[in-house]
Amino acid sequence: MSSRTVLITGASSGIGRDAAMHLNAEGYVVIGTVRRPADGDALISDAAHPDRMHAVQCDVTSNADVAALAEHVQTLVGEEGLHAVFSNAGVANMSGPVSAEDCPVETLERLISINYLGSVRVIQAHLPLLRASHGTLVINSALMARTVLP
Ligand SMILES: NC(=O)c1ccc[n+]([C@@H]2O[C@H](COP(=O)([O-])OP(=O)(O)OC[C@H]3O[C@@H](n4cnc5c(N)ncnc54)[C@H](OP(=O)(O)O)[C@@H]3O)[C@@H](O)[C@H]2O)c1
Repeated sequence: MSSRTVLITGASSGIGRDAAMHLNAEGYVVIGTVRRPADGDALISDAAHPDRMHAVQCDVTSNADVAALAEHVQTLVGEEGLHAVFSNAGVANMSGPVSAEDCPVETLERLISINYLGSVRVIQAHLPLLRASHGTLVINSALMARTVLP
């Protein structure tokens, strides 16, 4: 068992949940963020080592949520710091108009607030804890971020 702790945002489903389960099974202490309490309960009860899995409610668009998350994480890791942050929470916009002419600005604001600023919020709040342990930052992006559509 490792005493090393990793933080994973968006651990209710998909890549984040799989990463949380895998690292927990490997013996890491995992702090996974969710938005619904039921997802947090399932994350813990399905874990190989439930005592080493923590679920914290956090919407990455909320400064208050992210600040509360960082406080919670600080309390859990103490002076040892965080071994890694996996900034994974995000959404894809697969429905509705996406063309340059028609994509609503509200849609773009939502995507930027979650996918870009959400990541920035979480990273800024946890950099001191990462520095304390010379930890690792992993950011989940998308190939689309490197694609230019005509
Ligand atoms: N799968 C792919 O092929 C693919 C391709 C390109 C990029 N990505 C990126 O990879 C990441 C994970 O994708 P996935 O396929 O695993 O998708 P997913 O199953 O939909 O997981 C997304 C996670 O992000 C969380 N989330 C969404 N909005 C949030 C918010 N405002 N605050 C906090 N958490 C939020 C979701 O929580 P809720 O359950 O509460 O909504 C969920 O836990 C995303 O950033 C996605 O954009 C995935």
